[in-house]
Amino acid sequence: MSHALTLIPGDGIGPEVTTAVVRILDAVGVAIDWDRQDAGVIAFRKSGQTLPGELLDSIRRTRVALKGPCATPIGEGFTSVNVGLRKALDLFANLRPVSNLPGVPSRFTNVDLVIVRENTEDLYAGLEHVIVPGVVESLKIITEVASTRIAEFAFRHATREGRRSVTAIHKANIMKLSDGLFLDSVRAVSRKYPQIPYDEKIVDAACMHLVMRPEQFDVLVLPNLYGDIVSDLCAGLVGGLGVVPGANLGTDVAVFEAVHGSAPDIADQNVANPTALLLSAVMMLRHLGEVDAAVRVKAALDRVLSAGEVRTRDLGGSASTTEFTLALCRALD
Ligand code: NAI
Repeated sequence: MSHALTLIPGDGIGPEVTTAVVRILDAVGVAIDWDRQDAGVIAFRKSGQTLPGELLDSIRRTRVALKGPCATPIGEGFTSVNVGLRKALDLFANLRPVSNLPGVPSRFTNVDLVIVRENTEDLYAGLEHVIVPGVVESLKIITEVASTRIAEFAFRHATREGRRSVTAIHKANIMKLSDGLFLDSVRAVSRKYPQIPYDEKIVDAACMHLVMRPEQFDVLVLPNLYGDIVSDLCAGLVGGLGVVPGANLGTDVAVFEAVHGSAPDIADQNVANPTALLLSAVMMLRHLGEVDAAVRVKAALDRVLSAGEVRTRDLGGSASTTEFTLALCRALD
């Protein structure tokens, strides 16, 4: 049976890394019928919209998308495609497993944690306005419904995957009402899962502990903005943005994408590392029930990275995106 899936190449290095991943998925033999859809800058140039209706219709139909990064200009200009997509499809949970990969140089060798980020509200929703010239208000909306929903997701994930613990990250000592509500909601859910050890850390202290002893963390559940920042910090613990995957999950729709952005500094040079998107695709294969293919792709990736002969520039090598992709296709058993 062929899977009908949506493919969003995106901006910057997006088309390069999605092409690489599609090629590897083809080589592993999973039958996929891709519905290619533009988003971001490319879509804006063609249709005047960064998030065209056909794209949303496609994902609502296929229920599963593989997405390259989409650029969001800083300051004035269009609002984030990623925020828009998550809102439009109610992709409330952002799941980012962060662990060491064989042969990938990093400061630590024992990182194995999962970031569960609330994806729909908080300061990250970008609700801002000018009150009077020189004064801007940015709204941090936190709701009990969204906080409870993400906490439930985190504890269910921890239970299903046999994880060790759940830690809520917050700043409720200062934002007593907003982060306080988040924390109260997570605490309430934690009481329903007495078998899973639960603790809490203030976000600044959590950052220090993460860069000193990351092995003490397992599942982290965070409001949207802290989740965004701490994700990149955690990517730095295991070799950088080129190697950390992610999934945006709703009740019945899933969009798989890497943690990294469109990397305009290396776009169109055939040097981007497709590993992060490939690992996102491995998550997608599991979601689709293609467990054997997921295991084979991950094993091939581990083989290529362990051998260390074909590495992209971000990992200290000199291989192009295409050379790395071919090495991976050859390493599939
Ligand atoms: P970025 O993640 O694009 O790049 C940060 C650094 O990491 C750059 O030096 C880049 O070359 C490197 N890098 C990232 N991915 C890499 C890969 N696969 N292989 C090798 N090196 C890699 O972050 P930046 O520069 O802050 O954002 C650029 C654009 O991406 C912005 O417009 C931002 O809004 C957007 N963005 C989109 C995301 C998404 O679509 N999910 C997520 C994060 C940012």
